[in-house]
Amino acid sequence: MNAPLAEFRNVGMIFHRNGIFPSGRGETRALHGVDLALWRGETLALVGESGSGKSTLGRVLNGALRPTCGSVLYKGRDLGGLRGREKRDAMRNIRMVFQDSASALNPNISIRESLLEPLEAFGIAEAGRGRLDLAMKLLESVGLPRETVFRHPRELSGGQRQRVGIARALATDPELLICDEPVSSLDVSIQAQILRLLHSLREEKRLTCLFISHDMGVVRAISDRVCVLYRGHICEVADTEALYDRPLHPYTRCLLDSIPSMNPGDRGKRPVSPLDAPSVPASEERCPFLPYCPRSTRDCTLRMPELTELDGRKVRCFHAYDSDTVRTVP
Ligand SMILES: Nc1ncnc2c1ncn2[C@@H]1O[C@H](COP(=O)(O)OP(=O)(O)OP(=O)(O)O)[C@@H](O)[C@H]1O
Ligand SMILES: [Mg+2]
Repeated sequence: MNAPLAEFRNVGMIFHRNGIFPSGRGETRALHGVDLALWRGETLALVGESGSGKSTLGRVLNGALRPTCGSVLYKGRDLGGLRGREKRDAMRNIRMVFQDSASALNPNISIRESLLEPLEAFGIAEAGRGRLDLAMKLLESVGLPRETVFRHPRELSGGQRQRVGIARALATDPELLICDEPVSSLDVSIQAQILRLLHSLREEKRLTCLFISHDMGVVRAISDRVCVLYRGHICEVADTEALYDRPLHPYTRCLLDSIPSMNPGDRGKRPVSPLDAPSVPASEERCPFLPYCPRSTRDCTLRMPELTELDGRKVRCFHAYDSDTVRTVP
């Protein structure tokens, strides 16, 4: 039977703040009961506004963070319970590309050392000439000249550094790539180059990819499926085209409406969006989207909607399949 390559099961994450002032103490609930599967060879986009928990979910998957509750499975095994060889195998196969290429690479070491580091750590290729050769091939595979290996990060442009970051992530020949906003710090033409590169790598190597972004235009171009996060809750999961054709959750609709329009007549007509609204404290006893929702009813104030599955897509909204009438809380 077809099994997911990786899976989040009821994953929750709470960050505790221990400030020196009493007001600095507290907790942030970054993820709530996340259930999500990643299928082999797919690109799943994770979208949502700033602070919705996207990077946290990525870091839980690459093992940098341990979830407060729930588990992350890789090939059916709990990542948190892996030891020794199995743990190394998972670390080798799950690699991450970061948003900020400047800080992702150590500025004090050459590109050569940056690329040799994962090769040495996982004993890949023959020490010496073999590893240097592989480092150069990796650079070529991301469209950079072999000689880049002798340069320092400060001598490269943002787009070139991002390619080195991708080469470094690919060095271990991973199965799963987590790309955390890999193009958002780059200009549009370099963005397009990097996206084409990721697309061809995915085709060639049949990479599975968790692609984190808040750019709904980029997401449509690159992903097979989309998972929408709002304040650490999954709101909706659907095939990309289905989601763009017919968003079921009102928050998904807000995200799609926030894509800038090329039609001058539409400018300035952006609907009210939670992205503009003041923050309202979250509660487990009501829909997290309640304060901004044009469809909310009394039900939404009394309990949290479940993430329910219908026709191969999942949505957390009591009114997902209602007609488009707008209601207000009585
Ligand atoms: N190490 C940490 N300690 C405390 N709180 C944290 C930590 N990391 C993340 N958070 C909090 O968890 C929440 C989710 O953060 P996260 O970085 O996952 O958001 P995001 O969706 O990636 O946002 P962005 O689009 O801005 O990158 C935020 O409220 C953030 O402040
Ligand atoms: Mg982030």
